[in-house]
Amino acid sequence: MRSLNSILDLSVEELDGLITTAKDIIACPEKYRDSCKYKKLATLFYEPSTRTRLSFEAAMLELGGSVLGFSSANSSSASKGESMADTAKIISCYADIMAIRHPKDGAPFVASRNASVPVINAGDGMHNHPTQTLADLLTISREMGRLNDLTIGLCGDLKYGRTVHSLIEAMCRYQNIRFVLISPEELRLPGYVKYNVLEKSGFPYEEVTSLEDAMPKLDVLYMTRIQRERFSNPAVYERLKGSYILDPEKMKLAKEQMCVLHPLPRVNEISVAVDDDPRAAYFRQALNGKYMRMALILMLLKEAQENPAREPIRGELRYDLTCRNPRCISATEQELPQIFRLTDKAAGIHRCIYCEHIAE
Ligand code: NCD
Repeated sequence: MRSLNSILDLSVEELDGLITTAKDIIACPEKYRDSCKYKKLATLFYEPSTRTRLSFEAAMLELGGSVLGFSSANSSSASKGESMADTAKIISCYADIMAIRHPKDGAPFVASRNASVPVINAGDGMHNHPTQTLADLLTISREMGRLNDLTIGLCGDLKYGRTVHSLIEAMCRYQNIRFVLISPEELRLPGYVKYNVLEKSGFPYEEVTSLEDAMPKLDVLYMTRIQRERFSNPAVYERLKGSYILDPEKMKLAKEQMCVLHPLPRVNEISVAVDDDPRAAYFRQALNGKYMRMALILMLLKEAQENPAREPIRGELRYDLTCRNPRCISATEQELPQIFRLTDKAAGIHRCIYCEHIAE
């Protein structure tokens, strides 16, 4: 049995397989109408969501299955102090698969270590958002006709934007990719993505502040919202919130063959006037998310049926270190063992298995 915590849990062949299935679902939806008959998906959303939760639910319904769940932490027993581990054990009694969104980095991972059904990370804190990446990959594939040989600009909140982290991890699996990282200095990519993934991939990347300068080079522009809810100092958010606004003037600088993605919701970073530009792919991207979630549910349920045992935690592990990230699930979840994985042998760097911060 496999869960999806990080996009790196899937090989490039598996990513391509999911894209192929999603395209087949688009072409012949009737073929899949009863694929999940009598199966139940639980959606455990401890943070606000429109697209992710409803597209998961629509995905399961279109596969002939049923859905149950909650859409805020207040309406679950988390508000009474129940741990993620206990909740995962309980939900396993009622559902065949579950999707979890949580404000703490690594919470779905804890659930996946305790559930007896597959767990899907539907966004954990400022860490990862692998199913948004599935939507992004299908969108790039459908809009551009390829996932190799691309210059990708990621613009906005690269620090707190979990969708950016998972997308970079995924694109590093393809060939001949160049990254342009466009953000204010304060909102640059965190170390676990920059050093652990980007630099190891060997792909060229630049960190810049000007969207205008980057525009003409890009095949894909991935816009993001400045993540207000993750700032500890509201004044810093106020200063940075208007950093980038994509408007028709800036679109004039872009290639004719390119596409603009955004995980949505947008605040003000893409002007509504851009929506009618044929290169604006963000609403099609939201629809693609449903198809990819259908493909993922099919894959994980099939695997769970064939092999119900939980996969072991891989890598060289240590249990005597401490995670100092206050946003990590290990900071709040009682009795959770601190576990670290050796990620850089030469430098002796260990990272927390929940949030990927460096051990201290
Ligand atoms: C994103 C998220 O929740 O991280 N939304 C989504 O799932 N489509 C992006 C965001 O909230 O800015």
